[in-house]
Amino acid sequence: KNCKVITIDGPTASGKGTVAHRVAKHLGFQYLDSGALYRLTALSAINAQVALDDELSIAAMARVLPCHFNHGHVYLADKDVTDEVRAEQIGVAASRIAVLPQVRQALVDLQLSFRTGNGLVADGRDMGTVIFPDAVLKVFLTASAEARASRRYKQLKEKGIAANMEDLVKDLIERDARDSSRTTAPLKPAPDAYVLDTSAMTAEQAVQQVLDWYAQVA
Ligand code: C5P
Repeated sequence: KNCKVITIDGPTASGKGTVAHRVAKHLGFQYLDSGALYRLTALSAINAQVALDDELSIAAMARVLPCHFNHGHVYLADKDVTDEVRAEQIGVAASRIAVLPQVRQALVDLQLSFRTGNGLVADGRDMGTVIFPDAVLKVFLTASAEARASRRYKQLKEKGIAANMEDLVKDLIERDARDSSRTTAPLKPAPDAYVLDTSAMTAEQAVQQVLDWYAQVA
């Protein structure tokens, strides 16, 4: 428990991935992209043609998820699925399996195992509320739906993935609703979280704010 944790939670495309990754790099901490674990689980289910509401089967797959992470790349059973898991339909599938309590439970130990070395920056929906309640710093990043949709649009475009703004806003609102209304680990700020609205901020400014807060508690 000497390994300090910073949690960065927030809705889809709030910028938490970019911010968390840069903060981790700056501090020399490990980085956990917990959303990737839900995406990998969803991809495994789809590959195995398991229905996305088959809680028992998906939880069983999540418990032995053959994934590893290396230099920003994500592997599932040794196959590089970095781009595949970022696809919008995998995000939507991930949010569907993420409502299943046994699937969430099955991913707990894997998430805890990232807590090694000097420290950990963990990003997701329930990092500060459920997985790392003893984090030294909890941040909740938000941004307007418009700001988030246009960021996601840019990201996808840069990767050469076709995207449509109208569909993105629709997916985003649908995904927010599902993440916020589920009974197990809903998306909400921890009572002791700092809330940061990044709608009018650059990633650099958001990173600096998190580092400033960390300097106060470290
Ligand atoms: O953050 P990302 O968009 O990659 O997450 C994909 C989906 O996984 C989210 O919409 C959410 O439903 C789920 N998720 C979750 N808890 C986390 C991280 C992600 O429920 N800690």
